[in-house]
Amino acid sequence: MNAAVIDGKFHAAALRTRLAEETARYKSEHGLVPGLATVLVGDDPASEVYVRNKNKTAEAIGFKSVHRRLPGTAAEAEVLAEVRALNADNSVHGILVQLPLPKQIREEAMLDTLDPAKDVDALTPTNAGLLLGGRAKLVSCTPAGVMILLKATLGEIAGMDALVIGRSLLFGKPAAQLLLAANATVTMAHSKTRDLPALARRADILVAAIGRPLFVKGDWVKPGATVIDVGINRVDAGEGKAKLVGDVDYDEAAKVAGYITPVPGGVGAMTIICLMRNTLIAAASQRGLPSPNV
Ligand code: GUN
Repeated sequence: MNAAVIDGKFHAAALRTRLAEETARYKSEHGLVPGLATVLVGDDPASEVYVRNKNKTAEAIGFKSVHRRLPGTAAEAEVLAEVRALNADNSVHGILVQLPLPKQIREEAMLDTLDPAKDVDALTPTNAGLLLGGRAKLVSCTPAGVMILLKATLGEIAGMDALVIGRSLLFGKPAAQLLLAANATVTMAHSKTRDLPALARRADILVAAIGRPLFVKGDWVKPGATVIDVGINRVDAGEGKAKLVGDVDYDEAAKVAGYITPVPGGVGAMTIICLMRNTLIAAASQRGLPSPNV
């Protein structure tokens, strides 16, 4: 049996249409144009592509989009000054500082400076704490996208065993909180976990976010399980070409799983669109307007 493919592009396109409609409504009814600012420090080629796509998508939906670029040698104080300027700019409702930052800039210092109301990555201590308390307004983009895919695919997930492999601030930790809030029984695994294959074989929902190409093998997957692959790894495809693969060995896992996300075209497609959703939510909240219907 072959798993059904979870089509992230399809779900992202549906959300994008609703966002564009809601954005047009806020503009006509309230004169509100949501503003998204991206900050890129340095010239990492993958980060440049991600940030360009974020700005392009923002504009296509009807947002104002601003981009700030600092050299990879920028001092921490310069980056913090840029964040403060964007915090104070009333036309900017969401700020995304692309990670990772160069090593001379402490991620914590940046997050402690960023206005939580504009933190569309939901990484600041305030937003992480609100998520823990079950009352988050802004939820990290990739975990939010994964929950949309899970709910669309499975409906109710209460009581299911979920395993999240990876414990990053950007994904693993918020994803585990969201699964828990949806009443899954959640296990978090990481590099020190013993007998990961055995844990994985118990999971009804298996989420891989470790950044290691093809790490999760087919015989780790419980028959019929839902496999969510958050990895985006660039690997050599021969003849000087590169290709993207996930953290899951897709060909093997698809023979066993019930549902599986492909790479590309799975989770990645949802991340940008959830960033836009957060920006619209943040803009409405900052203007004291009701939350958008998205
Ligand atoms: N780097 C990789 N993914 C992300 C993300 O979702 N947000 C930010 N700010 N940086 C990233």
